[in-house]
Amino acid sequence: MTSDTTVTQKIELPTREDETWWRQAAVYQIYPRSFADLNGDGIGDLRGIASRVPYLAELGIDAVWLSPFYPSALADGGYDVADYRDVDSRIGTLDDFDELVDALHAANIRVVVDIVPNHSSDQHAWFQAALAAGRGSAERARYIFREGGGERGELPPSDWESMFGGSAWTRVADGQWYLHTFATEQPDFNWDNREVRDDFLTTLRFWADRGVDGFRVDVAHLLVKDLPETLPSRMELDAMDAASGSHPLMDRDEVHDVYAEWRALFDTYDPPRTAVAEAHVSTPERRARYASALGLGQAFNFDLMGADFDAAQFRAIVTENLAQADLTGSSSTWVFSNHDATRHATRYGLPPARGTGQKAGTAWMLAGAPAGEIDLAGGVRRARAATMFLLGLPGSAYLYQGEELGLHEVGVIPGSRRQDPAYLRCADTGAWSFDGLGRDGCRVPLPWRSEGASFGFGPGESHLPQPAWFAQYSVEAEDADPDSTLNLYRHALALRHRLQSAEHLEWIETAARDVLHYRRPNGWEIVTNFGADAVALPSGRIVLATGPVTDTLPGETTVWLAP
Ligand code: NOJ
Repeated sequence: MTSDTTVTQKIELPTREDETWWRQAAVYQIYPRSFADLNGDGIGDLRGIASRVPYLAELGIDAVWLSPFYPSALADGGYDVADYRDVDSRIGTLDDFDELVDALHAANIRVVVDIVPNHSSDQHAWFQAALAAGRGSAERARYIFREGGGERGELPPSDWESMFGGSAWTRVADGQWYLHTFATEQPDFNWDNREVRDDFLTTLRFWADRGVDGFRVDVAHLLVKDLPETLPSRMELDAMDAASGSHPLMDRDEVHDVYAEWRALFDTYDPPRTAVAEAHVSTPERRARYASALGLGQAFNFDLMGADFDAAQFRAIVTENLAQADLTGSSSTWVFSNHDATRHATRYGLPPARGTGQKAGTAWMLAGAPAGEIDLAGGVRRARAATMFLLGLPGSAYLYQGEELGLHEVGVIPGSRRQDPAYLRCADTGAWSFDGLGRDGCRVPLPWRSEGASFGFGPGESHLPQPAWFAQYSVEAEDADPDSTLNLYRHALALRHRLQSAEHLEWIETAARDVLHYRRPNGWEIVTNFGADAVALPSGRIVLATGPVTDTLPGETTVWLAP
């Protein structure tokens, strides 16, 4: 048994011209308002991100995905876009954007931007024009307006609920109602309208021409709807088959006509622009359609987010998704954390899920465990083991800012400081519950330094309050600690460029039920002990370990073995 934690072999990074760069990329999600604040207004900005390009390069990621940075009234953290072809003045300018893209490209890091096509902000010029133009107008036809029920149209057209709680319909001054799947301030577009389709093609071209390499497509399954004259009730909708391709509101087969047009546009670029769908659909088969090479090309698979820290569950999910990727010709995607979910270090530290008796990995929205009931150290230990399991898999790894620090969810934020409509609209109704706390806890600005105003996020206070315990998770603190989660990620991401090869793995059967062991075609092996007890260590040259390893593999630990 030898241990080698230094990278000696020359690493071949994909070049900028490589069309297949996305297939096994490590993509790092940046939530721009919470990454780095250079101008000191408490909100992260593009120049702040640019100032951290050396950090991103050292981390070893292949691409960044920027969550929305467009002008927005921030009714939904920027997912309410007021202008798809500009930068929010609090975040920067188009020139700042160009400079950021140049700096990232110079560091061999590609750039993916978020496109939000299901709905705009109610501040968008088109929605304002729709309000002004009145019923029956071409302006209203870009959105989904309906007359209300009741004797004077005073009732919403249907009893549908928005994803953030409350009615999915809001009434405007002249009495009509408009549909919003999410917050009131996020009116849904009418994708049967050719103007809407053309405008999004213009937007995609706008960013692709500026050098953007790919797009993340928000709720890609919701765009196309088929609303009959008499709308079905919520109960009737719930009883419909969401996998039929003909559900009135989601995952309709015709949505792929939209993405075929987008693909035709992407393929006019050299290299072709990429896209990844956020599609919450009911089966892996339905998800595969979004990953088609004739469409967006790749789709998020959130299955591991919903799994316990459990060998059997992980193995079943990986096997199924690799089989799907084989069928579509796309590559699989793996995610543990993002801006919508409780951070995975915290999920894995929660007490056994209520009622199930299992470890609480399943409770991916369960931020509400009282402080003291979360096993903080155990959560980080399991998150490190799980992430190193993930980083060895074939396909793309999507990482969320701060997870490289083993950062925990911030559970305690005063209600008056919370921003998430999932909290503000649901606190009473519990509709999209997130256990009532919303998603602000994973969006708290990053700690760069162990002390000082906003822990180095910016010169002043940050827009969401940071807890005192952020100090010990700061980049500064972890940089100095060879065993930190940050240094583990750096080491793994550097090795990953050597580990990634043909997009397959072979499971190696082990005697221990809680252990998963797989081998990549070029001989690299990943072994994770999901159990609590130590097991025999497989033979091989260990190049990475998530915790101390002696002559056994301790519980909740992953090792990588190089050929
Ligand atoms: C999915 C995004 O990830 C989430 O943050 C947002 O609230 C909804 N889509 C609506 O855009």
